[in-house]
Amino acid sequence: MRVIVEQDQSGVSRMGAAFVGALVRRKPTCVLGLATGGTPLGMYADLIRMHREEGLDFSRVVTFNLDEYVGLGPTHPQSYRYFMQHNLFDHVNIDPRNTHVPDGRALDFEAYCEQYEKMIRDEGGIDLQVLGVGSDGHIAFNEPGSSLGSRTRLKTLTEETVRDNARFFGSEDAVPRLAITMGVGTILESRQCLLLACGSTKARAIRDTIEGPVTAQVTASALQLHRDVIAVLDQEAARLLERRDYYRQMEEAQERLQTGHGGVVR
Ligand code: PGA
Repeated sequence: MRVIVEQDQSGVSRMGAAFVGALVRRKPTCVLGLATGGTPLGMYADLIRMHREEGLDFSRVVTFNLDEYVGLGPTHPQSYRYFMQHNLFDHVNIDPRNTHVPDGRALDFEAYCEQYEKMIRDEGGIDLQVLGVGSDGHIAFNEPGSSLGSRTRLKTLTEETVRDNARFFGSEDAVPRLAITMGVGTILESRQCLLLACGSTKARAIRDTIEGPVTAQVTASALQLHRDVIAVLDQEAARLLERRDYYRQMEEAQERLQTGHGGVVR
């Protein structure tokens, strides 16, 4: 795993957007896996700026979002479809038909989840999956105890997640208790993962994700099994990592390789 520690959240956003933007330039038909929440907001703002100022072209990009609350339609201000429209899709030249967010109002969830997996496969799989991490160590809505082989399905949110997300809904009672979410197994099939985390409330989850044992109790720790993960953290989220010096040395070695004879360090 590459671990990059930035000074603050705006550094994380810039670095995240640089990775996504580089892929879109390198492969204009790429398939992006996208995340919602407070963490990627600045990255999306930066991608919009890159579209406006640098002509970053989303016209052939395909996207799949990680999750959606059950019961919320696309016009509900807390739905993840609404979030994506307002924070990215409406501001870049992406073809709306190429954007996929799970349908929180599907009638037959089992069939719908299977179809979502098939849509990802039919597009050739996800090239780069953007991820945040919950304070309980979840990726997408794969709460502690989720199978590390899980696929897109319904999941019950933990009390901790409900509390964390109440800030967006105004009260805990208003937070849906169920979500449709890509599984850990679905995420692990992405060709590359970009994990973003900011703030001291993520420090424990980040330590467990990167330096703890692989366990279904911290579903983000399954990323240790993936061959190509880049974690971009701010100082506070990285605070509890024991091997920070080593991660910095890895980045310095990577830089030397790139300016010398190329190569990748993971
Ligand atoms: P956040 O959510 O970006 O709003 O902190 C991350 C998550 O719960 O996965």
